Parts: sequence; C-alpha cells; structure tokens
Amino acid sequence: MAFHRPKISVFGAGFVGATVAQRCADRELGDVLLIDIVEDMPQGKGLDMFESSPVERFDARVNGSNKPADVAGSDVVVVTSGIARKPGMSRDDLLTTNAKIVQSVADSIREHAPNAIVIMVTNPLDVMSWVAHKRLGFPKNRVMGMAGVLDSARMASFVAMELNCSVKDISPMVLGGHGDTMVPLPRYTTVSGIPITDLLPADRIEAINDRTRKGGAEIVALLKTGSAYYAPGSSVVAMVESIVKDQRRILPTCALLEGEYGLKDTWQGVPCMLGKNGIEKIYELKLNDAEQKLLATSNEHVAGAIRQAAQLLGM
Ligand code: LAC
Repeated sequence: MAFHRPKISVFGAGFVGATVAQRCADRELGDVLLIDIVEDMPQGKGLDMFESSPVERFDARVNGSNKPADVAGSDVVVVTSGIARKPGMSRDDLLTTNAKIVQSVADSIREHAPNAIVIMVTNPLDVMSWVAHKRLGFPKNRVMGMAGVLDSARMASFVAMELNCSVKDISPMVLGGHGDTMVPLPRYTTVSGIPITDLLPADRIEAINDRTRKGGAEIVALLKTGSAYYAPGSSVVAMVESIVKDQRRILPTCALLEGEYGLKDTWQGVPCMLGKNGIEKIYELKLNDAEQKLLATSNEHVAGAIRQAAQLLGM
C-alpha cells in the first residue's frame, strides 16, 4: 500500500502565505513548503512553525525554500506572491507588478509540478487567476482563485454581529469578482436555513452588503502597512482541506466560466464543489433580475481588467 501525505506548497511567505502554512500544518492537512525570493526568510518561518509542532502536537513537516523548483511533487500549490495594497489603493492598482510575478511563478509550477491543483490568492484576484490559468495551460478544474470564501466569511461575521447570534449557523453566499462590485446574496444567506431577508430589515441588510464589499479596504485602512491575512489565510485553508480530503464542500470559488450564468471566457466567484480533482462542479444559482444585473456589472469590471492585463502583458 502506498501511503502519501499530501504536499502543499505556498508561494509567498508573507503574512497570508505564512498564515496558510501554519493553519495547514496545525490541521495536519499535509507537509507544507513555503517558497519565497527573500533569502533565508521562508526557511526561518518554516523551521519556527515546525518547532511549534511538538507543543501543538501536529504531525506535518514545514520547510522553507528559495528555489521554485522545490515545488516538485506538490498536490496543491497556493500562490500568494505579490505586493499588497496600501491605504487608498484599489486591488487593480497592483495589476502590472503582480501579473509579472504570477507569470514567473506559473512557469515554475508548470515545469516542476504539472499535476498540481493551483489556488490563486494574489490580487487583483480575478485577473491573476486568468493570468495564471493562461500561463499554466492546466485544465480549468485545476486552477481557481480564493475570494468568495473570504468575502462570504466577512458577510457572515457582520450578520452574526447584527443578530448577536453564533457564526456557526450562518451559511453565507457572495458571488462575483473580488472587488467593490462583488455580489453579496442575502436571499441565499441563511441562518439555520432562514434567509436573512426574513430576519433583518432591508436597510440593515444593505449596510451588511456594503461593509462586505468594502471588507478588505476596512482592514487595509486599519493596518496601514498591508492587507488582511487571518481571514484570507483561513479561507484558503478551507479550500485546501476540501481538496486534499476530498470533502466535496460547495464553496464560493473564483472559476473560469464557459457559459455558466450566461458568462463566457471570464473569471467570477461562483459556488463550486471542491474535491480531489479541484473544481468538481460549478453550481448555477437561480438569480432574480436584480441579482443577475449585479453579477453582470461585476463581470464588466473584471472583463475590463482582464482586457487591460492582456494588453499590458501582450497575452
Ligand atoms: C482582502 C484582500 C486580501 O480582501 O483582497 O482582504
């Protein structure tokens, strides 16, 4: 019998990457490798995390490396490399710099880990997922972006604050791009099966939607020197776990759409079943006219940014 502990590699050992690595190791999802260009830093963080394992009592190796080729043999690769937002910047402001970084990371993954499932985290997320997928040439089920789990987690947090109830019973849903035009869906956001539209007045729901859409900027404004990482890290790990354990959870995921929701050749956050093959299935929710319009607006924004990236990068 061949035993196999999954190998999870994380490009970028900054705050998001390190948080992903730590939580993957804590939960024993597999052995973890942190890869970064900064000399010795990923090795230091990896060793420090591994040295926590006798105390935390988890069995997972955590290593660091400066060599992209060490991604070889990975089952899942998480890409967080790139610069983060400063106060006042939009995610799109990061486009050119991060696209070049993502292209070079994608080249390493294609060469050394051609069978991996890739989860993009670098912003602007939807465009970087497009860049990575194009450059990797992997089948669409093996390339995805993390945004919807985070945006929904923020929505669930705000619902819990508003209702003063447990977060555990909240099942949130946010579709669309990871930007100011994302589409929180109150009709599909439930507390123990009860839609929040039955629990809260319209103006409170709109306030929750608005805070959700600006959730990333709220943290950037508070931190001043970077963007969020605890909730983004947890959100990536939920996706990694569903894949490496073949849990087949249905999580909002940034995916290549080829006709779903009436959208083609574009990347949008939609509910996806995540399992051992990556995206096992995309679910189409029945949207009303207003919701469909919001998704179309979100997609116009993403499609525009993809066109801009295509021009800038000559892709
Ligand atoms: C956020 C950044 C990471 O939403 O996009 O916090």
